[in-house]
Amino acid sequence: MRTTVGIIGAGPAGLLLARLLHNAGIDSVVLESRDRAYVEQRQRAGILEQGTVDVLRSAGAGERMDREGLRHDGIELRYDRRRHRIDFPGLTGGRSVTVYAQTEVVKDLVALQLREGGPLLFETEALAVEGADTDRPRVRFTRRGGRDGEAGRESVLECQYVVGCDGFWGVSRAAVPAAVSRVFERTYPFGWLGILADVPPSHDELVYARSERGFALLSMRSPAVSRLYLQVPAGTDAAAWSDGAVWDELERRLETAPDDDWVLNRGPVTAKSVTPMRSYVHEPMRYGRLFLAGDAAHIVPPTGAKGLNLAVGDVVTFARAFVHFRETGDPALLDAYSGTCLRRVWQAERFSYAMTTMLHRSPDATPFDDRIQRARLDRIATSRAAEQDLAECYTGFSFD
Ligand code: FAD
Ligand code: DHB
Repeated sequence: MRTTVGIIGAGPAGLLLARLLHNAGIDSVVLESRDRAYVEQRQRAGILEQGTVDVLRSAGAGERMDREGLRHDGIELRYDRRRHRIDFPGLTGGRSVTVYAQTEVVKDLVALQLREGGPLLFETEALAVEGADTDRPRVRFTRRGGRDGEAGRESVLECQYVVGCDGFWGVSRAAVPAAVSRVFERTYPFGWLGILADVPPSHDELVYARSERGFALLSMRSPAVSRLYLQVPAGTDAAAWSDGAVWDELERRLETAPDDDWVLNRGPVTAKSVTPMRSYVHEPMRYGRLFLAGDAAHIVPPTGAKGLNLAVGDVVTFARAFVHFRETGDPALLDAYSGTCLRRVWQAERFSYAMTTMLHRSPDATPFDDRIQRARLDRIATSRAAEQDLAECYTGFSFD
């Protein structure tokens, strides 16, 4: 099998890249190890930056998002029983974010790719990228499902370029020699327990809460479905938390002033899982003809909702550079890919780290740390400049 751009992974990065290349008349093949249902139902991010919304729309993948996505013009910070709203458009010259789940973005892109795009092979696992430093890179892969006789057989996808969009646990990053790789990493002693619940959200905007008991987040998937998160110790088993215990803890952490009539709506929990948290950057994001994009190259802790949006920024950068190269023969943008992406990546790393450390309670937190967290929140609540910085970062960094 042969193609111009071999894409490993059908998460948001791989699927959007295939679409952008298709729109520019460039062929690609997408290899995805899991089946379609699994990829479409994996619960993850929920917030799209303005730039991500614009890109999906202009790629022809925005029809349902425009119908069903919820535009959000702000978030609430809750701490010391106080509530402080951040007004995005007022602080950023009109920018906002959109609540539209990653599952829905993926469903829309899969449907488009299967209808109009090049091959998207599910249950097809990339085993290794070979020859990344030659002009004929190859991806060795094996099919798990597929037609009789195909399952388990090893094949090769011959490419002009390979883009590794295979997430943190994928194989493409391993094709960069150790002598070239630099890894910057931080793990956190806590994770997020996330639930989905069939109940209308208890507030019309997201609420990020800091409490003595740890962080809590009230988010949503639709006017009828709530998504909520609780900080839990790293390694927590989701099954150890009963539904009732989750609601009780959310209520404590989202506490408001006694004269405030805000209430937490409870409802049937339909999903419950724990996400570990880490900050991770692999440099460079390119080796020869192999380019890394999305979680394959970097991870942010979820506070601030940057992961999915960063993945989109990477593939937009690659697609632009590749189209420019094909049209002009000038490799300057492709050569600049890693540096261009890493500038945005490090801004998102900084923001996600700042939000995480401001809102979560470390197991070894001292009274000094507590006071600093509250001072950071107070600074945002009382300084337009500090508030504006948060609003600019939250609504997104430019893809240019
Ligand atoms: P992925 O979505 O991970 O896609 C990679 C794809 O590659 C997968 O489909 C995988 O099956 C496939 N793959 C892997 N290995 C191979 C192989 N060898 N061969 C073929 N295919 C392969 N971000 C937020 O902003 N908010 C959140 O609440 C949030 N929650 C998250 C929860 C979890 C459990 C995780 C893991 C991430 C979460 N994120 C969240 C981050 C966000 O979802 C990711 O940043 C986003 O999915 C990145 O997209 P991607 O396409 O780069 O990678
Ligand atoms: C969601 C996830 C985030 O990481 C975040 O900061 C806000 C919302 C969500 O899944 O809805």
